[in-house]
Amino acid sequence: MIRFAAPLSAAALLFLLTGTAGAADEGKCTIAIKGDSPTARACTKGGRAEAKKMMKEMVKQAKGSGQKFTCDGCHKDLDNYELTKTAPEDFKKLEAAQKTK
Ligand code: HEC
Repeated sequence: MIRFAAPLSAAALLFLLTGTAGAADEGKCTIAIKGDSPTARACTKGGRAEAKKMMKEMVKQAKGSGQKFTCDGCHKDLDNYELTKTAPEDFKKLEAAQKTK
């Protein structure tokens, strides 16, 4: 029995992994779907791929003005981009760091 069960669960796991990995960067946004933030605008334009680019650019610009942000400082999970409790507050700081260039 055990000999049969092992390959099966390995295959199932692989399926699960590739399934969720694909869903993360492709397709539509699930968080930044309303409002007028730069991310929301990027989402409207090009979905998650575009939002990701946008967020990277924002983090880079903030770094240029001396502030350090990391993706996982605001996103609990970089597969589904679930936000941390402080993310909305931090996002304001990130946005402010864009202007004080
Ligand atoms: C300062 C906090 C902060 C940092 C740092 C940050 N994010 Fe975000 N991110 C947010 C918030 C808040 C939203 C939702 C914005 C909205 O609702 O308009 C978001 C939205 C997104 C989305 C859209 C998700 C969806 O489904 O709507 C992606 C993709 C994303 N971020 C990727 C990244 C990546 C990649 C990095 C690192 C380069 C990063 N973020 C860094 C706060 C942050």
